[in-house]
Amino acid sequence: MPVLLPPALEQSLDLLCCPTCGTHRLHPDRSALRCPTGHTFDVARHGYASLLTGNRATSGDDAAMVRARDRFLSTGMYAPIRQVVARLAADSAPEQATVVDVGCGTGYYLAGVLDQLPGARGLGLDTSVRALRSAARVHERAAAAAWDVFRPFPLAGGVADVVLDVFAPRNPAEFHRVLRSTGRLIVVRPTGRHLAELRGQLPAMVTIDPAKEQRLHRALDPFFEATVTARVEYPTPLAKLEALDLVAMTPSARHVSRADLNDAGLPPDRVTVSVLATTYQPR
Ligand SMILES: C[S@@+](CC[C@H](N)C(=O)[O-])C[C@H]1O[C@@H](n2cnc3c(N)ncnc32)[C@H](O)[C@@H]1O
Ligand SMILES: [Zn+2]
Repeated sequence: MPVLLPPALEQSLDLLCCPTCGTHRLHPDRSALRCPTGHTFDVARHGYASLLTGNRATSGDDAAMVRARDRFLSTGMYAPIRQVVARLAADSAPEQATVVDVGCGTGYYLAGVLDQLPGARGLGLDTSVRALRSAARVHERAAAAAWDVFRPFPLAGGVADVVLDVFAPRNPAEFHRVLRSTGRLIVVRPTGRHLAELRGQLPAMVTIDPAKEQRLHRALDPFFEATVTARVEYPTPLAKLEALDLVAMTPSARHVSRADLNDAGLPPDRVTVSVLATTYQPR
């Protein structure tokens, strides 16, 4: 019995190129995608396209991190960030926009943008299989595919109106190639004040490098010019379980044990959320 592709994936096929030979485009072949030369890629039963075959990804969240992220995001504590991302996207995108979310995780921000743009469609890329299972179901207009941001994207050039990069690794040259000339890149990253109270109690938590902004600017500058930056900063109460998830969903999880967390006497009663969201136009 042939498995049907999720409708959102079917409607994204015009964006995709064969990751092996680069041919534009891929066609459905039972529960797989196939290029005209015969390279095939499975569509997982969870609904995402397994385009990343044969190569080991350099990074990606494991199942425990994704579960923690999913639980934490469902508290709504980052909803103000999602609202700002959605507003920035809506301010610059046409009604029928194509939105590509790179390092999409569970697809939380992509879903927020698609809700704001009722005629838009989305595609989330991530290396984490566990994250992609959620991303493939996060919104009826969102498709998801396994891909490593550090490799040339399996996407045709000039197809995206919006590229989102929220707390995720970046590939400026590929962002530029896949965006239309009228498209926009939206990058969200933490400031040095983000979760400062939690970092103060947990020295092993990954610190935010003060030179990060400069590095971001240097990396993007050959390809993009910043047009608008929104600072999203607010205090939020934090329960112990939320603090545990907040640590467990970040790379700090590898350096901080549950015992460290308990010893630190968490949580602080409130933490500061502090991020910058910038819209860039291609040069
Ligand atoms: C901090 S999480 C952010 C996820 C999502 N954007 C959000 O904010 O909820 C970083 C994401 O990047 C993904 N990631 C890490 N390395 C990657 C790579 N080389 N290519 C694609 N995704 C990657 C991780 O699996 C994870 O989902
Ligand atoms: Zn091919």
